[in-house]
Amino acid sequence: MPIMRTIAFYNLKGGVGKTTTAINVAWHAARWKHRTLLWDLDPQGAASFYLGVDDGAGYKAGAVLKGKQPMGNLKRETRWPLLEAIPSDLSLRNADLKLAETGRGQLRQLVAPFGESYELMLLDCPPTLSPVAESIFSAADYLVVPVIPTHLSLRALEQVRDWLDSKKLKNLELIPFYNMVDRRRALHLDLLVKRPPIMRNGLQTWIPYSTHVEQMGDHRAPVAEFAPHTPAAHAYRALWFELLDRIKL
Ligand SMILES: Nc1ncnc2c1ncn2[C@@H]1O[C@H](COP(=O)(O)OP(=O)(O)OP(=O)(O)O)[C@@H](O)[C@H]1O
Ligand SMILES: [Mg+2]
Repeated sequence: MPIMRTIAFYNLKGGVGKTTTAINVAWHAARWKHRTLLWDLDPQGAASFYLGVDDGAGYKAGAVLKGKQPMGNLKRETRWPLLEAIPSDLSLRNADLKLAETGRGQLRQLVAPFGESYELMLLDCPPTLSPVAESIFSAADYLVVPVIPTHLSLRALEQVRDWLDSKKLKNLELIPFYNMVDRRRALHLDLLVKRPPIMRNGLQTWIPYSTHVEQMGDHRAPVAEFAPHTPAAHAYRALWFELLDRIKL
């Protein structure tokens, strides 16, 4: 049994593509026969929506965090083989407080037993630098960070890096990549051609700005399913393979 890799899709900035990337990566992972579990840690529940597990059926995540239910009860099948999900639910709103009380190791403990059943655990994170984020970081092996090629987004990435350094989370590998790239914009092109130092350890693959990504909401599916022969679909596929190589699965 291979060791489970836990990847958190994170950025302290909102709306940069954490959820859409998590969904497309999850789909590819399952498609390439890796048993995958995506945990929607964002109370907004966007990942649960895309995966069709947002109907409120099943157990409440809050009860699990309080230790009233075993974690395994929370997972749901999706319509894709080998891809299962833990839906977000609103009781997770209280998780911030709960995790702050119990310390940052708790999520790691919750995640650990899944290692027997899954090769990949993907965490779709809310945009915050709260105790929840800290708990997520201690549970993850890799932090995949979508970055829009602008100076402000790069600054946000530096903040994340500095924060990780200050918390001495050394086992966590920071993997940024560019998302929503518009090559008609001079700044995007500049930052792509001459990568700033903080991006050099990131993925080479970048995801273009694409209406097909926006259409995921209409289809409730990853791009590869409804627009397979498009630049966005090709980019996500390349991103998956580059990530796969990086995490040595
Ligand atoms: N490459 C892209 N091209 C065009 N639109 C994109 C791209 N990536 C993401 N989007 C769109 O941007 C919006 C935000 O994406 P997403 O929900 O994945 O971001 P997020 O970081 O998870 O946001 P939040 O912080 O709210 O959780 C969505 O409407 C999505 O369709
Ligand atoms: Mg999101």
